[in-house]
Amino acid sequence: MANGLTAILFNEEGNYASELRAHLNAYGGIKIVAEIDEPALLTQTISQLKADVLVANLDPQPEANLALLGEITTTHPAVAVFAICSSTDGPLILKAMNLGLKRFVPKPIDQSFLDDALDQVAAQRSTSSDTGRLITVMGTAGGVGATFLATNLAVELAQLDKGNVAVVDLDYRFGQVATLLDVDCTFTIADLCASPEALEFQVIKQALVKHSSGVYVLARPSSFAQADNMTAANCVGVLSKLLEHYAFVVVDGPSRFDQAAKSVLDFTDLNLMLVQLLVPSVRNALRIVEGMRESGVSLEKNCLVCNRFGRDSAHLSLQDVESTLSMRTFASIPDDWATVSGSINLGEPLVEQSPKSKVRLAIQEIAERLHAPDSDSDEKDDRKKGLSLIGRIFANQGGE
Ligand SMILES: Nc1ncnc2c1ncn2[C@@H]1O[C@H](COP(=O)(O)OP(=O)(O)OP(=O)(O)O)[C@@H](O)[C@H]1O
Ligand SMILES: [Mg+2]
Repeated sequence: MANGLTAILFNEEGNYASELRAHLNAYGGIKIVAEIDEPALLTQTISQLKADVLVANLDPQPEANLALLGEITTTHPAVAVFAICSSTDGPLILKAMNLGLKRFVPKPIDQSFLDDALDQVAAQRSTSSDTGRLITVMGTAGGVGATFLATNLAVELAQLDKGNVAVVDLDYRFGQVATLLDVDCTFTIADLCASPEALEFQVIKQALVKHSSGVYVLARPSSFAQADNMTAANCVGVLSKLLEHYAFVVVDGPSRFDQAAKSVLDFTDLNLMLVQLLVPSVRNALRIVEGMRESGVSLEKNCLVCNRFGRDSAHLSLQDVESTLSMRTFASIPDDWATVSGSINLGEPLVEQSPKSKVRLAIQEIAERLHAPDSDSDEKDDRKKGLSLIGRIFANQGGE
């Protein structure tokens, strides 16, 4: 039933956020592009981000919030507006309908009622679902290899889809994506997040630097002060704009499981959860998975990748990790300090520095598996049917 819809959530009740997010994610294939908890930010966000549906919790101030939603149905008629409310007061429902809201969904939410309503929006929507794929690389402990993987994966994808891949550094303070590719960036993601007005792609393009491999790089902020001003909403706005123009956007991050991370994870197509065969890494991975579950973030997008595999790891096997996390391993990357440190220190991706190394071949294979579903016409049909990227990748590999 997934149809690649995009949604904005409006919710002022902090303790209802997880439940609301879980209901949306239960629909499958929906992307939450923003989660707003302040009425004052709603209009600006709707103008800035492309969304098919606005799902708004009217509580705790139904009358005031309904008036706000009424303004939105007038200014943004293409966005289907759903109101969620604990009150089933007849006049309130009537008012909602008169204001042009598409659905009034009483609490507790009946999932099949919500699914039917979303199906209708999917059938009638005007926005195109033919956007690129967002791939996040989430390290489960410091130094696990997230930057190295994100950077080299983007470069490998760019070999398969020239000019169609961007890599974004979400490690706002210490990100090294630009260093690993030895590019100088005049503008960064901070310059884009600083402008609250709707972002034009031309502006974003100016901040991107093209690496010789063909991958476009969006670097981390140059100063700590700029990093402090980054907001989750603006960051997702930038990613969303990039996806309108690139087939793949690979992100180094999110690195911590904070509010911004939840927004990015809600929005991603595939989250490569990078572990090493070390107890702290696996414990953190488990905490992240539990945090995602508690917050209503979809676990379906998670994919386990084991880095530095093949070292003599005492007392912990990949099977232990899989059973602890209840996840299948998507890929493993061999340990090769000499090759990897050489590539990092020279600022040359493996495809240039060590194209025949096992570690490069492992990342190239990941890129091929991620790229394959979109290059096959049957899979394109699956995509239209709404099968998730991860579902299609594992299906392509014969369910391995
Ligand atoms: N497959 C590998 N074989 C050998 N060394 C590796 C491998 N992958 C990464 N490394 C090494 O691990 C170190 C950390 O890598 P990287 O900076 O990508 O990790 P990170 O998860 O981004 O760290 P941080 O938490 O600081 O952001 C690097 O010095 C790199 O050389
Ligand atoms: Mg890093």
